[in-house]
Amino acid sequence: MIPDDQRFQVVFSTLSETRPSFSGPSPGDLVVCRSIILDKDQRRRIRVTTAPVEYSTDYECAAYAWRSTADAEPIRLLRRHISQLERAPQIVAITLDQDGEILSMSADPQYYLPEPDHVYPFLDELPPVETVLRSELIELDRIAGICDLVSYRSGPAQGRTGIFKSSLTDGQWTGLQATLRLPPHPHLLPIDYAVLEEMECKLVVGYTMRVIPNGDLKSDYHRARPFKLKWLRQLMQTVDDLNLRFGVVHQDIRARNCLIDPETDNLLLVDFGFSAWVGQKHAGIHGRNWEPGERRSDVEGVMLFLCEIITRADDSDIFDILAGVVEADSDLEWRDKLVKHPDVELDHNIDMFYHELVSWVKKRRSGGTSPQTRAIIPEAIRWPPYPDRRCDWSGSEEDDSDDKPDLREKGPRVPWQRPASTMVDRSRILLATGKYADESESENGNKKAASEVAGPSTT
Ligand SMILES: Nc1ncnc2c1ncn2[C@@H]1O[C@H](COP(=O)(O)OP(=O)(O)O)[C@@H](O)[C@H]1O
Ligand SMILES: [Mg+2]
Repeated sequence: MIPDDQRFQVVFSTLSETRPSFSGPSPGDLVVCRSIILDKDQRRRIRVTTAPVEYSTDYECAAYAWRSTADAEPIRLLRRHISQLERAPQIVAITLDQDGEILSMSADPQYYLPEPDHVYPFLDELPPVETVLRSELIELDRIAGICDLVSYRSGPAQGRTGIFKSSLTDGQWTGLQATLRLPPHPHLLPIDYAVLEEMECKLVVGYTMRVIPNGDLKSDYHRARPFKLKWLRQLMQTVDDLNLRFGVVHQDIRARNCLIDPETDNLLLVDFGFSAWVGQKHAGIHGRNWEPGERRSDVEGVMLFLCEIITRADDSDIFDILAGVVEADSDLEWRDKLVKHPDVELDHNIDMFYHELVSWVKKRRSGGTSPQTRAIIPEAIRWPPYPDRRCDWSGSEEDDSDDKPDLREKGPRVPWQRPASTMVDRSRILLATGKYADESESENGNKKAASEVAGPSTT
């Protein structure tokens, strides 16, 4: 089951006046908020339009902030109706009244849902990798926002389980390019298979990896056990290797991206979706690329990681804590800034953690080990920039009217939708395509029968 706080994501949110004016809304005007929300359980996007409310600058700020918060108001409104919508998978848009009740629903995706601007790589744009078809993966469980536990239906891995990370929320261009290029490393988890869509064009829509049980370092399992100093050391070493040997910045060093391999008791760093190579300009849609040693670099990422582990503060507070810690440069200052949560257990005295981290941060900041140019990074890797075949959202973002927007389509579309986990028929085999195996087989059978009736095509 996907953890409840990871299930929904506002991918787009905008305010529009009920009576459009050239100058934009002023306080007191009536505005409606339209949001497109991704439900990662059903892998389905739903547009939610609120009832008109009086415009205020606070409301506008909130509407735009909703795009990045997991407890956004539009999500709260959608949740109230989600069990009804789970039973109506064709619905793509709902309009709500003043009480948050459904006023109307629509099933026309052309009208309400522009295609997301994903760049899925084609197989020949990636380094060599083994492949598996999405229809060859059986869904066993949904463990995180876009990660499923699957088993392989055929091929050399038949019967084995794996993690399928789908490219639902972005095309995984960076995650695939970076992870496939990194050399084998004791603290990095390699990709086993690139997952191909059933298309002649060899579109890659995700990848599989070995399953690491017990969840990430934020899981209840790990929180109930002591955090080990050796894991912090392993993370610092991994970050040194990434930044200084391979010329890669991960840019998302967080407890949720660290797993512990139960076989070796070693830390594994995953999720290179935000990564960049040192010196890369315009590193992708997230626009984040920092040189090693800069603010918000991986050095700062490791500080953020330890803040999370020690304080258990949530995302609304953690960056304030980090800001204090970044300025601190002695063990004593750290002790003041990083107050241990009473439930956190450590396998060494907390001062050891502060001391090791402060020493490492100082060493990295001193610049002696921080090459600023790629030329002196021994095994530097790089990968091609995003190709220019994204769908153009610009027209639809500004679309305040109810006129039918153009559906601009540059990249291929991938059918992601699947039944809600509450609706899955467990007596049948559900594939990673979102279809049941018997459905897909009968569809293939129908296609085959149709082509036999039509006879062989002539060229
Ligand atoms: N190989 C794995 N084995 C077990 N759990 C994993 C594995 N990879 C990822 N996860 C879990 O799935 C979550 C999401 O995966 P991640 O690659 O970080 O995707 P996202 O881009 O959604 O952050 C992780 O936080 C972790 O809990
Ligand atoms: Mg992650």
